[in-house]
Amino acid sequence: MTEVLRASPDYDGEPPAGAATVGQLSTGLTMTRSHDASVWWKDGPVYHIYPRSFRDATGDGVGDLRGIIEKLDYLNDGTDRSLGVKGIWLSPIYLSPGRDVGYDVADHLAIDPIFGDSDDFDELVAECRRRGIHVILDLVVNHTSDLHAWFLESRSSRDNPRRDWYVWREPGARGRPPNNWRSFFGGSAWTYDDDTGEYYLHTFLPEQPDLNWHNPEVREAALDVVRHWLERGVSGFRLDAFNAYFKHPELPNNPGRLWPRRSRRPVYHRDRPELHEFLLELRGLLDRFPETMAVGEPFEGEPEDVASYSDKLHMTFNFDFLRQPWDPGAVQRAIARWDRLLAAEGRWPCYVLSNHDNPRHAWRYGHETGGKVADARAKVAAALLLTLRGTPFIYYGEEIGMQDVIVPGDEMRDLAFDAVTRDTSRTPMHWDGSANAGFSVRRPWLAIGSDYGERNVAAQEGDERSILNFYRRLIALREQTPALRLGAWQPLVRKPESALVYIRTYGREYALVALNFTEQRTRLGFDEELPLRRWTPRVSTRRSDLGWSVHLGQRLELGPYEATVFTGDAPTTNGDGPR
Ligand code: NOJ
Repeated sequence: MTEVLRASPDYDGEPPAGAATVGQLSTGLTMTRSHDASVWWKDGPVYHIYPRSFRDATGDGVGDLRGIIEKLDYLNDGTDRSLGVKGIWLSPIYLSPGRDVGYDVADHLAIDPIFGDSDDFDELVAECRRRGIHVILDLVVNHTSDLHAWFLESRSSRDNPRRDWYVWREPGARGRPPNNWRSFFGGSAWTYDDDTGEYYLHTFLPEQPDLNWHNPEVREAALDVVRHWLERGVSGFRLDAFNAYFKHPELPNNPGRLWPRRSRRPVYHRDRPELHEFLLELRGLLDRFPETMAVGEPFEGEPEDVASYSDKLHMTFNFDFLRQPWDPGAVQRAIARWDRLLAAEGRWPCYVLSNHDNPRHAWRYGHETGGKVADARAKVAAALLLTLRGTPFIYYGEEIGMQDVIVPGDEMRDLAFDAVTRDTSRTPMHWDGSANAGFSVRRPWLAIGSDYGERNVAAQEGDERSILNFYRRLIALREQTPALRLGAWQPLVRKPESALVYIRTYGREYALVALNFTEQRTRLGFDEELPLRRWTPRVSTRRSDLGWSVHLGQRLELGPYEATVFTGDAPTTNGDGPR
């Protein structure tokens, strides 16, 4: 099959607003570039740890902070033998009754004893710092646990000074909830409190009452939490459901019907103008601590809504990318949309394929096709994630191609949704082939994948062709190559059907990424206007000519599921420079 490389329609003509133009290819492609110099959170990658499932050092079957400390060299020991991550984001480690497995916080300043204590935390931060790893905490302040001291006070009587810290309302007509808002987990977003005769609002579970962000004391309390952890040495936060903090002050009914599911849009729940003002205040506080960052996790919303915060937050997740099918055309459109939205100076994209709320991407893209193809696709996906213009977020275990695990009904821990559990993507990390996958000496808190005997870190470390070593090589190349970390992104196939091909450009430096999404050999016909003639394959799933400069000429043939990253420099004198 032949595909002709051309400028993407999204990039024909004028560069995106705010981007600096650095050149014009004869294809008509306009080359743009990012503006800022290197900083750790842009370089990445950031590694997302689900602490319950990373490593249990204390032997109680649940992962903990000491377990993370034990494995820091795996994450970054300063050599290419480790993964080379620049930051770790920890899902919540605070005191919590665990109704939403940690996302229901009962004390934002206390470490939950299942993870360790305050000294363990300080040691973790110090050990991370020694290795150049930045620690990012999950900031969960849209809501608290119903056992948080703030809520216990608020609930105790209508005239308690903290009553207004949460969203309380009189019942509506005939004792009904005050409006038609739905909880994300199902059912009404309101729960009636018998003792005080009012309803309280919860965007998530009834055990997760929403804070009233219109109350300045609440905003101050949230900033106090942020200040506390910054002073303890963390480098920033992932903001849970940040765009839902402020609700419409009059709490009007949301438009649309209840059925089919989700046709009622939660427009009054989120994206209030007041939020921008608070984010500026938060940014001001963060900026007082060097090299810190905040990445926002949006509660629903289109990429355009989410991007509107990216001038205040350092980054926001774009789940539109994660939701794309295994189709290079769909993936390219999602990237182009996001890249264009974040083209202006001072904005920066990030990309994520897996997290604790979704099935793992190795499972989504591959499980129905069987093990071999799943692993081949996991490598293509890795090359994609690690070569885009934006910070890559890696979810623990994706670097060994971990799959989702079917957790038996009576062993499920996440029961927040009625019909779906998110446990399947939260299972213990496979460290080696010994009992309990080297995760714990005890039976783990959640089932372990049955493939751990073959799919584990120890086995993959010794195999040059493993997914793990592919991740390591890609991350090392990203680290050495400013074009991959900072360069502009430019798709080269107008309507990709089988392969995604793009160029990253930074000054005179180029990287060319070619990803075959199919099991068939694919021949790509090139325009002669590729910016360089000679390219050096640096990391590849198939090629054996790594490190040798090759003439790409008019065409490039890609093997089944081939993922290859080339680099090239434009000489300053005549010769092979950009034409
Ligand atoms: C988003 C978190 O990622 C998810 O796990 C949690 O259930 C909700 N926010 C509520 O905190």
